[in-house]
Amino acid sequence: MASPYRLTLRRPDDWHVHLRDGAMLHAVVPATARVFARAIVMPNLRPPITTVEAAVAYRDRILAAVPEGLDFTPLMTAYLTDDLAPEVLERGHRQGVITAAKLYPANATTNSAAGVTDLERIDPVLEAMERLGMPLLIHGEVTDPEVDIFDREAVFIERHLIPLRRRHPGLKVVLEHITTEQAVDYVSGSDRRLAATITPHHLHLNRNAMFAGGLRSDFYCLPVVKRETHRRALVRAATSGEPCFFLGTDSAPHPRAGKESACGCAGIFNAMHALESYAAIFEQEECLDRLEPFASEFGPRFYGLPLNEQSVTLERSEQTVPQRLDPPFSAPGDETSLEVDQAPLLFHAGETLLWRVVTSEQRQSS
Ligand code: DOR
Ligand code: ZN
Repeated sequence: MASPYRLTLRRPDDWHVHLRDGAMLHAVVPATARVFARAIVMPNLRPPITTVEAAVAYRDRILAAVPEGLDFTPLMTAYLTDDLAPEVLERGHRQGVITAAKLYPANATTNSAAGVTDLERIDPVLEAMERLGMPLLIHGEVTDPEVDIFDREAVFIERHLIPLRRRHPGLKVVLEHITTEQAVDYVSGSDRRLAATITPHHLHLNRNAMFAGGLRSDFYCLPVVKRETHRRALVRAATSGEPCFFLGTDSAPHPRAGKESACGCAGIFNAMHALESYAAIFEQEECLDRLEPFASEFGPRFYGLPLNEQSVTLERSEQTVPQRLDPPFSAPGDETSLEVDQAPLLFHAGETLLWRVVTSEQRQSS
């Protein structure tokens, strides 16, 4: 029998992930660390990460959850509030602890109540970031309830992002988890200081997924998935070879009770098969050669970080995705625990994926 086709890539990074804390952290970190060398870790914990000390402590908790033998570097972010002092970011940058800062418009999404209520209030922080060369990571949706939920990203770009970038022309900005043709066009037509991450779920799903046969909260995330024309625009952007579009999974696990609720949480847990999920899209578009730059080169170049020297190998062989994440779900020395029936559902559950990650070289070659 012929040996299966293999594809070896420079080891990728995940430029947007939610690792949570406590038992959930221990449950989900191995999936990310197995494949990705580094990840930009979102700060929307309760309470959010707003100090250098909290970022250091959270980084230590993440590292304690990395299985032995895996080489994984969490890149920490600070959560911007109306009154976070520029000095926090200056010190976090100087000490090599804080890589970027995340802007959540207040109440735009999960754990964003402490976010920014008025962008002009944080101009001094943005000036400091501009000076430091620290990227601003944006959840780009307006919170105005008068604006249709499907239009909130496009309206954010016009109302807030364009004026913000005019006020801070030197600021590096990542528009996170883009979902619309308008975002693709705006990012693609901008200068090199603007980039965007694209998630696996926004590449695979359109809004019909949330209503297929009933109300499907497993496909609910924010920004919410849009109509097919937007999904197509995202696929074109991710596979375009343009360096302003790169990998960021927005993997966002929630306990089952959070999803199976009359008011289900936003978030899709995709970390288990993220690279395979992206590979499926690049294969469909017949441009698997562009997966490596998207997954492993454009992100580090934008952030000004070295490319990883290790590799991962994908094999073209079928795998059926299980429903749930497997136990164990308890953190050593941690009193939180996650019941087995609360394990997050996996993105692509029950589907057959055509690729699988077979090896991941862990140590930096010298
Ligand atoms: O779907 C999402 N889930 N979008 C976000 O912006 C936040 C994330 C979460 O933390 O659950
Ligand atoms: Zn996110």
